[in-house]
Amino acid sequence: MANDNGKLRVAAIGDLHVREDETAPFRELFAEIGNVADVLVLCGDLTNFGKTSEAKILAEDVKSSTIPVIGVLGNHDYECGQPEKVCEILHEAGMTILDEQAIEIEGVGFAGVKGFVGGFGRGELAPFGEPEIKAFVDIAQNEARKLENALRTLRTERSVAILHYSPVQDTLVGEPIEIFQYLGSQRLADSIDRFDHVKAVVHGHAHHGTYEGRTPRGTPVYNVARFVLEPLFGRRYVVLEV
Ligand SMILES: [Fe+2]
Ligand SMILES: [Fe+2]
Repeated sequence: MANDNGKLRVAAIGDLHVREDETAPFRELFAEIGNVADVLVLCGDLTNFGKTSEAKILAEDVKSSTIPVIGVLGNHDYECGQPEKVCEILHEAGMTILDEQAIEIEGVGFAGVKGFVGGFGRGELAPFGEPEIKAFVDIAQNEARKLENALRTLRTERSVAILHYSPVQDTLVGEPIEIFQYLGSQRLADSIDRFDHVKAVVHGHAHHGTYEGRTPRGTPVYNVARFVLEPLFGRRYVVLEV
């Protein structure tokens, strides 16, 4: 249900990194969020190693959420080579994992992909030379293409783009500059900037990055990795009004 001002309250957290030795690690937090937000967005690295045991622990907490839970996977959710199983467990718990399809909640659109590495500006890796380099770049291009296609299907005036990897460098500040190209891809921002309806972008992955930035066309970007939010706000989530 939208707020009095007609805005949707979107809570976001990235980098949950649920481990198999934890018990209901997000149960209380999700209950708290259910009182202050209309939708909960999870920005990847939902599990620590992509184990089914970890996904099942998070699934129990997802089941307890009183508001819709949507999100994307992160690179850690791929570590055991079974991201589809992680998706399935969370899907059965009621979470919507976005990849190629966008959804609409209370008049606000949500499109999301994990994203990929690849760099920014002059540091962006180009699809030139060896087939291995081309295959690598193709993954980054494909993530950006999926995001663009999903955003194009939305007919809402307001939408949120959900990512794990960063689309901009602004929110990476605080991480070593040498690894910026492994923390995101400018191609994601290029896709976002084709649409006026994207009002906010949320991502995770850069645990030591900066909370706020903008795409080249000025769309706000928020790094909601919980390790960034906790020292800044004293809590592990933010609520954006969209
Ligand atoms: Fe992470
Ligand atoms: Fe990550």
